[in-house]
Amino acid sequence: MEISAAGLDAGAAYKLLVGIVVPRPIAWVTTVGDGGVVNAAPFSCYTFVSNHPPMVAVNCGRREGALKDTARNIAAGGGFVVNVVTEELAGPMHETSAEFPAGLGEPAALGLELLPSKFIKSPRLACSPINLECMLHQIIELGELKSQLVVGEIVMFHIRDDLLDNGKIETRRLRPLARLGGRNYAPLGDIMTMPPAEEALRRLRVGED
Ligand SMILES: Cc1cc2nc3c(=O)[nH]c(=O)nc-3n(C[C@H](O)[C@H](O)[C@H](O)COP(=O)(O)O)c2cc1C
Repeated sequence: MEISAAGLDAGAAYKLLVGIVVPRPIAWVTTVGDGGVVNAAPFSCYTFVSNHPPMVAVNCGRREGALKDTARNIAAGGGFVVNVVTEELAGPMHETSAEFPAGLGEPAALGLELLPSKFIKSPRLACSPINLECMLHQIIELGELKSQLVVGEIVMFHIRDDLLDNGKIETRRLRPLARLGGRNYAPLGDIMTMPPAEEALRRLRVGED
């Protein structure tokens, strides 16, 4: 099957992409809005984009042309927290994606405990074992629907002690949750460790005279 992108409308392209770009990690983003209301929402168009300084990018689409609360709050306030989502947080994380009425913060409505951040106004979610405090670096508007690619510089990592070993994250212990298409999620599954890639060069005798 060949599908020309030129013939696809936004909805059809979205349907394909959410099934093709999988599994996606989930950034559960906390921000502060008007009147100090704390907002939380999940975003799976998310990855890290720089390691010095460390930066992540989160893509916020629009709702009927209007900015989502998360994008609006970040543009106005300049800071946000990415809370890492683990298997046991699937329920509350998923619920925060509902459209709560303006002025009603998801953490307050759902009884999610908040902890203060060190450098930014947005608080962190206590239930998440890793929180990344981010300062807004850049917002890049993309495509005809003008989605907002929000790039943030991480200024503070909060990592639960048992998840860190010699500077590395204990991925099995973290049990991150991934998003697939629609309302489908996936746990980590088996981890495959491959031999060094250079072994292929030796096997193929590349570079030998
Ligand atoms: C797991 C998950 C991942 C999501 N990823 C995105 C995303 O990457 N971009 C986006 O615009 N919306 C995404 N959404 C939808 C938003 O979470 C939803 O529109 C939410 O209401 C936005 O909240 P806000 O208006 O408080 O920012 C996702 C929803 C779920 C459940």
